[in-house]
Amino acid sequence: MIILSVESSCDETAVAVTRDGREVLADEIFSQADLHALYGGVVPEIASRNHIRAVSRLADAALEHAGVTRKDIDAVAVTYAPGLIGALLVGLNFAKGLALALNVPLIPVHHIRGHIAANYIAFPELEPPFCALIVSGGNSIIADVRGYTDIRILGCSHDDAAGECFDKAARVLGLPYPGGRPMQELARGGDENAYRLPVGHIDGHPYDMSFSGLKTAVVNLVHNAEQKGETIDRSGLAASFQKAVSDTLVPRTMDAVKALGYDTVSIAGGVAANARVREDFEKACRKAGVRLYAPPLKLCGDNGAMIGCQGYYEYLAGVRAGQDLNAYATMDVDDVIC
Ligand code: KG4
Repeated sequence: MIILSVESSCDETAVAVTRDGREVLADEIFSQADLHALYGGVVPEIASRNHIRAVSRLADAALEHAGVTRKDIDAVAVTYAPGLIGALLVGLNFAKGLALALNVPLIPVHHIRGHIAANYIAFPELEPPFCALIVSGGNSIIADVRGYTDIRILGCSHDDAAGECFDKAARVLGLPYPGGRPMQELARGGDENAYRLPVGHIDGHPYDMSFSGLKTAVVNLVHNAEQKGETIDRSGLAASFQKAVSDTLVPRTMDAVKALGYDTVSIAGGVAANARVREDFEKACRKAGVRLYAPPLKLCGDNGAMIGCQGYYEYLAGVRAGQDLNAYATMDVDDVIC
């Protein structure tokens, strides 16, 4: 079954062509990061306008690279939640138009479910059940993946997402947007014990997270030093920050895997590209005798292939949408509408 999939929830426009879920025939991505870097974060209106400019061209390129024509497409999958509402609507309307014109089913895909599916593409043997950590610019979630379309949230951030925290900390250190990768590079060789930074806990919710205290601590530390004319150990601060993020993510996820009695954990989303986080997960999983699935870096960030892959499993589960499908800025991964 050949699916053309569209992703436009944030600042990546992406169109992919996949066969039977896990085989990627083409995966075209246009990242707008450079366009937003000037503003230090994503500007929703600029994102929407550039999705409009890119989406049709990417679809043509995806078909050409996949070596298929429009007639070969069996279904169209699209991210409909969560994300920037204007950005989502661009991809959604493009997908609706295509599905209508080709007279093929339209499959709505939850963005976080797509991130989880990135690991299905990378690892053909991976099948539910497993415990998943999804850490991106907008979400930090620990989920119980009971089946391909049966996903329950065990814990999430009560405030900022891990990626957002990386981006804000990077900004105050004068690093470009998106800040995750530059922070990782600045942290290289830095003393991770240079600064004591807070690791947030939510009383009574062992798998929930909080990153706003960490973000504020870094911002205050830098501003106070500037006001007093003191020098910051930038590399040490980046390393201490990375450690604090990893110390929030890894133990919670490992506790969840243990509580579920699973032997498999997967990590996904932009922050899953972080070398320190990956290293700490590798160590923790080795110690606990748990199998770790971490996608290659190109599948950590937003992409169309993960939407096509999850779209396939949603299709098998009977999920279809009509032309009245709407986009939603927020929606829990276990609360999908279709
Ligand atoms: O999954 P993604 O591409 O988009 C969303 O769905 O949000 O994630 C983007 C986030 C950004 O906040 C970016 O700074 C972060 O992922 N990121 C990283 C790294 N690469 C990207 N964070 C930490 N370390 C990295 N190497």
